Amino acid sequence: MGEIDLRVRDCRHFGTRCGRGPTRRFAEAADYRGSESAGVATYLDSDAIALAPFPDTITYLEDDDWAVLTRKTSVIFNAQGAVAHREVVKSGGSSFLVKTANYRHFMAKEIHAQPEVVGHTLRRYVDVAAERIALPQRLPFDFNDIGRISITGCGSSSYAGYVAKYWFERLARVPVELDVASEFRYREAPLRKGDLAIFISQSGETADTLAALRYVKAQGLHTLSVVNVPTSAIARESETMLQTLAGPQIGVASTKAFTCQLMVLAALAVAAGKSRGELSDAEETRLVQRLIEIPRLMATALATEPQIEKLARDMAKCRNVVYLGRGTSFPLALEGALKLKEISCVHAEGYAAGELKHGPIALIDETMPVVVIAPYDGVFEKTVSNMQEVAARGGNIILMTDAKGAREAIVDPLVTIVLPDMPATFTPMVYDIPMQLLAYHTAVVMGTNVDQPRNLAKAVTVE
Ligand code: M6R
Repeated sequence: MGEIDLRVRDCRHFGTRCGRGPTRRFAEAADYRGSESAGVATYLDSDAIALAPFPDTITYLEDDDWAVLTRKTSVIFNAQGAVAHREVVKSGGSSFLVKTANYRHFMAKEIHAQPEVVGHTLRRYVDVAAERIALPQRLPFDFNDIGRISITGCGSSSYAGYVAKYWFERLARVPVELDVASEFRYREAPLRKGDLAIFISQSGETADTLAALRYVKAQGLHTLSVVNVPTSAIARESETMLQTLAGPQIGVASTKAFTCQLMVLAALAVAAGKSRGELSDAEETRLVQRLIEIPRLMATALATEPQIEKLARDMAKCRNVVYLGRGTSFPLALEGALKLKEISCVHAEGYAAGELKHGPIALIDETMPVVVIAPYDGVFEKTVSNMQEVAARGGNIILMTDAKGAREAIVDPLVTIVLPDMPATFTPMVYDIPMQLLAYHTAVVMGTNVDQPRNLAKAVTVE
């Protein structure tokens, strides 16, 4: 292999695979100038997960670093052209982690892993025995001093933030502004020094989210990130980092990363409510008990798969799908529609159910499937009236609800997916499962590339 000279902005990691001999020579070399490692190959990528099957060690490059790589050597330079010494860390990945096991696709494996990884994440943030929130670190701010929370992310991560907006506002009575990072970084929002900004990212490398974080830091806000990759740029540059324990998210479509983000955000919202005096000890316990139930309820929701697989055969024939929800089910409608779009390339739109009559109702006819996310909660009756509007125009309703909702729905849905009974607050973590399964099986029927959908990258490290 010839010499590669590469300026590293979009590519933050490289790893070396070591042969026999001193495996860390590259890592431990005091002087990198042309150091000859025992490595048999050097790889370069923008996401450490992509490197997981290959190297023993990984080096994380900093912005504007550049490197000269050969098969056996690597030299890193900083923006000024001086040789730079960057820490070499042991690769966390392994070929075991990046195999599909008994599943046909990574996405299927990752959907089914959720009860386990959401359970791991729960135990990081909750003292299960004491039934209390127990954050792994002391926060460097007091929630009582926070006048407003700003939440930023992209794609599914922004929808996790949207769900969390409802939680923070309801449980902690703190106003929340939710932005997609690409808008936030340029819209010159008035920010108050000392307030809190939360950044949500699976990869921790999304360029817009990282830029938004840097922008907010410069304004003197507290920054807290919810990330899956603790070595990522967003994790490293945030004042506080709360890790999701989803494990490697290989499929481009965010599944377990999304539900783990929700678990961390739910725990944080309860912690905020408690420290602001909005939740009593008893209310905290009640909410924590509900969180503890989530992994089991997710496993129950996975049992809807055969029914959804059957439904997907019809969905695959459709050109457009509408998703509706109210309250926390609204951002979930956005997430369900995104999932279907990105992996099956079927056009889908998510709307707040109450918005139906303000425009989208014009789309409804007998060719239009309408996925309605409606647990039997405080806004169920309102959603039923929206379903009646859909039914009156011949739309085919696919209702995701619980046993009581199925009984009380009045309208006659084409299909009802009955999910386990649970108290309303944290339903999105459970109701996301059928949404993921529907997108997955529709894509499988259509024969699209499930794990690497066309035109999409796992981590969007460019603007
Ligand atoms: O790594 P991030 O969470 O920052 O990525 C944000 C989005 O690019 C990501 O959620 C994207 O929307 C997914 N493909 C959705 O499934």
